[in-house]
Amino acid sequence: MNTTHTILTGDRPTGQLHLGHFVGSLRQRVQLQQEHQQFILIADLQGLTDNGSNPQKISHNILEVMADYLAVGIDPSRTTICLQSALPALAELTALYMNIVTVARVERNPTVKNEIAQKGFSRALPVGFMAYPISQAADITAFNADLVPVGDDQLPMIEQTNEIVHKMNSLTSTPVLRHCKAQLSDVSRLPGIDGGAKMSKSLGNTLTLSASEADIHQAVSAMYTDPNHLRVTDPGQIEGNIVFTYLDAFHPDKTLVAEMKAHYQRGGLGDRQCKNVLEACLQELLAPIRERRATFIQDKGQLMAMLREGSERAHTLTQQTLHTVKRGLGLPVLF
Ligand code: TRP
Repeated sequence: MNTTHTILTGDRPTGQLHLGHFVGSLRQRVQLQQEHQQFILIADLQGLTDNGSNPQKISHNILEVMADYLAVGIDPSRTTICLQSALPALAELTALYMNIVTVARVERNPTVKNEIAQKGFSRALPVGFMAYPISQAADITAFNADLVPVGDDQLPMIEQTNEIVHKMNSLTSTPVLRHCKAQLSDVSRLPGIDGGAKMSKSLGNTLTLSASEADIHQAVSAMYTDPNHLRVTDPGQIEGNIVFTYLDAFHPDKTLVAEMKAHYQRGGLGDRQCKNVLEACLQELLAPIRERRATFIQDKGQLMAMLREGSERAHTLTQQTLHTVKRGLGLPVLF
C-alpha cells in the first residue's frame, strides 16, 4: 500500500477489548494511522441492535473502548475516533439506503444469517439487527472510506456496501458514493485461552487489555497444549497447541519461536518452559497498556472530550456525504 487511503474500522462497544482485538485489528490500526487518513467508529447503534433491552451495557462500554484505543497507541491527533450515535447523517443515510435493499437480500447475508441462527432470535428478531449491514454500509460510505480492514466474517458487509454504492450511483447523474475494498488481516483469528476457535467475550475465554499480572499468569498456566506430550522428552505436537499459536501471534523473536517449535517436536522441551516464555512476552506486552489504560479510564471527562472532538470532525464530513446523496436524489437540502 503506497497510496494514501481513507480507512474506516469500527467496534461495537459490548465489552472491553481483548487480545483477539489486539492481534486482529488494533495493532494494524496503530500502523495504519502513520500513513493513511483513518477513522474509527465506536458503533454503539450497531451494538444496540442485539442489546435493545440492555442499553446500559452499550453506554457503559463506550468509554471503556475509548480507553482501550488510547492505551494501545491509537493517537487521536492522527486517527479520528468518533461515536456512531452522535452522527445523525449515518442514521439518515441508513434510512435512504433501506429503500434500495430488498428483504431477500438482507436475508441472504451469510454473516447475519449465522448470527440470527446462533442467537436463536426466531420471530423475536429485532428489525434493527436484520438491517445492520445497511447501517454499516452507511458508515462506510459516509466517511468516503475506500479501505476497510476487517475479519473475514465482515466480507459480506463489504460486498453489500458495494452493491448499495453501485445502485445509488446508478440513480444519480454523477456518482455520489465511493466503492470500498476489504483489507483482510494477515494474521489468523486468535483462539480463546481455552483453545476454542475464537477469543470472544461471550465465550468467556478472553484476556482483556486490562488483565492483571495474575490473570495473565493464570490464563497461560491453564492453556491447552498437546495432551499426548506427557514427558518432557516425548516429541510434542505444534498443531492445535495454542501456546505456540500465541507465541506466533505475540513473540517478537520469530527465530527463537522457530527453534522452540523444532525442539518441542523433537522432544526435550517442556510445556512449562514454553509457557514461561509466552507468559514473559504477554506480561511485557500488556504491562504498559494496562498502565496507560488505568490512567485514561480515571478521567472519563477527558475521554468524553476527546470523543466529542473526533465526533465533531466526523459530523462535518458525514453531513457532507449526506448532502451529496440528497442532492443526487433530487431531495432539497434545507439546512
Ligand atoms: N460490524 C463491525 C463489528 O462487529 C463493527 C462496525 C460497525 C464496522 N460499523 C463499521 C466495521 C464500519 C467496519 C466499518 O466488528
